[in-house]
Amino acid sequence: MDRGVTIGLLGLGTVGSGVIRIISEHQAELHHQIGCPVEIGRVLVKDKLKQRDFDIDELKLTENAADVLTDPTINVVIEVMGGVKESRQHITDALRNKKHVVTANKDLMALYGAELLKVAEENGCDLFYEASVAGGIPVIRGLTEGLASDRITKMMGIVNGTTNYILTKMSEDGRDYEDVLKEAQALGFAESDPTSDVEGLDAARKMAILATLGFSMNVDLEDVIVRGITTVTTEDMNYCEQLGYKLKLIGLAKRKDGRAELTVQPMLLPLNHPLAAVQNEYNAVYIYGEAVGETMFYGPGAGSLPTATAVVSDLVTVIKNMRLGVSGRSIHSPLHRKQLQTDEDIESKYFLRLHVKDETGSFAALTSLFAKENVSFEKLLQWPLEEEVKTAEVVIITHTTNRAVYERIYKALEDMDVVIDVKSSYRVEGGQS
Ligand code: NAP
Ligand code: HSE
Repeated sequence: MDRGVTIGLLGLGTVGSGVIRIISEHQAELHHQIGCPVEIGRVLVKDKLKQRDFDIDELKLTENAADVLTDPTINVVIEVMGGVKESRQHITDALRNKKHVVTANKDLMALYGAELLKVAEENGCDLFYEASVAGGIPVIRGLTEGLASDRITKMMGIVNGTTNYILTKMSEDGRDYEDVLKEAQALGFAESDPTSDVEGLDAARKMAILATLGFSMNVDLEDVIVRGITTVTTEDMNYCEQLGYKLKLIGLAKRKDGRAELTVQPMLLPLNHPLAAVQNEYNAVYIYGEAVGETMFYGPGAGSLPTATAVVSDLVTVIKNMRLGVSGRSIHSPLHRKQLQTDEDIESKYFLRLHVKDETGSFAALTSLFAKENVSFEKLLQWPLEEEVKTAEVVIITHTTNRAVYERIYKALEDMDVVIDVKSSYRVEGGQS
C-alpha cells in the first residue's frame, strides 16, 4: 500500500472530472494525510470518443465496466455515473470483488442503501456516500460522527439547490417560475430531467438518507410525504413575507416518542429562523439534538468541485481505514425499528389563502368551521379583490393543530358555498421540537 492506492472511476461527468482535478491538484495534502500517493486507474464512460474540456489519458477510458470492477490493481471504486439499475449492479460487483466504494448517488442510496451496506459489511469493505446529501457540506459525517453521542429529534434541510434558487429569485426579483427554472438548468444545478428537483423527489431521497442515519431507523423513500414547488406563486411568497415568513422547500424529519415523521414540502419559516436566510443554490441542514440544541451545516449543495471534495474526503477515510485494518467496521445496522407518526401526531400551524364571496355571513361561516374544529386564527388578512367583483381574498395563519383536523377543515372549505376557491395552503414550521 505504501506504493500507492489505485482508484477506479465509474463516470467522468460533472463530479467525476472534479474528482480527477482534486486528486491531481491536492496530491501533496492527500499524501500527507494518507501516507501514500493516489492514482487513477481505469475510468468508465458511456462514450470514449466524447470531447472533454480537461486532460485525461485516453488509454484509461473504457466503455466496459468489467475493466474497472475486475482490475486487481484497483483498490477503491468511485461511482459518479448516476442512475440506479447499472450503478447498483456495479457497486455490488465492486464490493464482492473486495473493492471499497465511494458514491455520490442519492437516488441509489435512498432506495438500496441498506442492501448495499449489507454487501459491503459481508465483504469487509467500506461504502461511503457523503456527497449524496448536500454536495460539499459534510453533513453525513457531522451527523454520524460529530453528533454521534446525541439523540437527534429534528432535522430540517434545504437540500435541493435548484428549488432554493427558483424560490429565491421568485421572492427577491419577482421572476416567473418557468424562467428561473431554465436559468437553474443552464447553471448546472438542476438534474438533466428537473422533474425530481421541482417535484421534491430529489430532496426526499436526501431526507430518507439523513433520517435513516440521524434516527438510526431504516426509513424508506415511500415514507416521505412529498410535495414540490410547481404550484407556488409569487403572490403566496409576498403574503408570507408580509406576515413575517419565508417560503422555502423544506425536508423535515422529526422524531417524537420513538415515532418519525418525514416530509418534503414548501413551508413557511419565521424570518429569524436560520434556514430562512439560505439563499440561491445554497443548501443547509438544521439539526436539533436533545443535548447539543440547535446546529446548522451550510454550504454548496452541488457543483463539480464542492461535490468532488466530499467524494475525495470519503476516499481519504477509506484509505485511512485500510491502513488501520478496520475497513467495513463502521457500518452498523439501525438501532430502532421503524415507527411512523400518524396524522393525529403531526402538529403544526398552517397558512391558507382563500377567495370567498364578499357578502354578509361569509366570514361568520368560515369562523364557525374553524371553531367547530377547535382551531383558532393566529394571523388574518382580508380585503376585496379589485379584479373580481364581490370577491374577497382571505389569508389565514392558524394556531397549532394536527394534520387530521387540518385535512378535515381543508376538505370542508373546498365544499363550502361561500368559498369560491382555496388558492393555496402551506405548513408553517420553525420551532425546535
Ligand atoms: P453527469 O455529468 O451526467 O456524468 C455522468 C458520467 O457517467 C458521464 O461521464 C457518463 O459518460 C457516465 N455514464 C453515465 N451513464 C453511464 C453508463 N450507463 N455507462 C457508462 N458510463 C456512464 O453526472 P454528474 O452530475 O457528475 O452526477 C454523477 C452522480 O453524482 C449522480 O449520482 C448525481 O446524482 C450525483 N451528484 C451530483 C451532483 C452535481 O452537482 N452534479 C451533486 C451531488 C451528487 P459520458 O461522459 O461518456 O457521457
Ligand atoms: N439537482 C440537485 C440540486 C443537485 O439541485 O440540489 C445536487 O444533488
